[in-house]
Amino acid sequence: MTAFSTVELTVYPNDCDAFGHLNQAGLAALLERARWEALARGPGMDLFQRNGVWPALRKATIEYRAAAYPRDVLRVETGVVHRGATSFSLRHVARRASDDTVVAEADMVFVCVDHLGRATPLPEEVARFLGPRTMGAHQPLRVAAPTGDAELAVEVRGEGTPVLFVHGFPFDRTMWRHQLAALSRWKRVALDLRGAGDSTGPKSPEGYSMARYADDLVAALDALGIRQTVVCGLSMGGYVLFDLLRRHRDRVKAIVLACTKPDADSAEARRNRDALAALAEREGQDAVVERLLPRLLAPVTPSAQPEVVGQVREMARRWSIPGIVGAVRAMRDRSDSTETLRQLRLPTLVLAGSEDQIAPPEVARAMAALVPGAQLYVVPAAGHLAPLEQPLATTRLLVDFLTQVG
Ligand code: MLT
Repeated sequence: MTAFSTVELTVYPNDCDAFGHLNQAGLAALLERARWEALARGPGMDLFQRNGVWPALRKATIEYRAAAYPRDVLRVETGVVHRGATSFSLRHVARRASDDTVVAEADMVFVCVDHLGRATPLPEEVARFLGPRTMGAHQPLRVAAPTGDAELAVEVRGEGTPVLFVHGFPFDRTMWRHQLAALSRWKRVALDLRGAGDSTGPKSPEGYSMARYADDLVAALDALGIRQTVVCGLSMGGYVLFDLLRRHRDRVKAIVLACTKPDADSAEARRNRDALAALAEREGQDAVVERLLPRLLAPVTPSAQPEVVGQVREMARRWSIPGIVGAVRAMRDRSDSTETLRQLRLPTLVLAGSEDQIAPPEVARAMAALVPGAQLYVVPAAGHLAPLEQPLATTRLLVDFLTQVG
């Protein structure tokens, strides 16, 4: 269920270009009208004003899927895909009412600002209207883990060659939200690893390891009837992918290694993992994410995109404490994957954030050199979370690679 009602709007000639197609500005205006109309039918158009705030549009990703013409009636569905403390994201799907063709899909990120333009917490009435975080039509499936001690939330969208997205730590599947929305030519599958997001997990940290995470991926693929898939892993998601390659190589068609590295932890890194696990047990999720945040994002991201910082905090809060401790120990104990990559004969794309402090571009370059034929790209102005910090550039690189893979 979504807070916004579905609205039908007619395309006017002045929304269209000289050839009669609905143009960019026309579509953006139409989507805006749909939002106001839905507010008018619900809590009132003055919902924000009467609470002394304004929803400032910070980012819009629009995918044009089919042409629309004057007199077409578009049915615009609007869902809340993310609600943070100060920000929220809406997803619009505009369909031609006469034949249900999807004309455009759009993801819009709003920050709630006060009269001086400063980000401000969503007033209670607005938060109540937006409701808890919803995924609209993308409610995850629940898949039992093979070990029987976890239930995995698996989101599936679209049709085509499957692409499985594996998140890093301490994130969840929503870190891929831009790619899940935009890669409409592929079947996108994203799951929350055990203990993260909407997945449940074992109560003891012993129930977590790279091998278990990898076996969980296979359970999700089996549940969906997917024999082989492209797998895209970010950071810890990459470590899980290395185990998947060792354990279930036949399930993998091609790989994307994003913001990750193949080597095992040094002695010092292992000590830091133990300290982080102890911090999680002592002080909880917030303390963990605050400890990690200074190294997670490009220097420009927190000021340019405060909603990304908000989302990182929210994702971390959705981990259970055993899930965090289990993941940290699983990373501490992971094997070196250099040899796994050297043996690999699969189409491979390596992506690095230009400002990533955890898996810097030079590490990515060395990793790409291990795999014959691997492609390497550095995403500018991105830290360790390129898909969220620079979604358009990251998605474009994925589209190019996935198109080659076929
Ligand atoms: C991640 O993003 O998954 C972690 O930063 C990986 C790590 O700490 O090695």
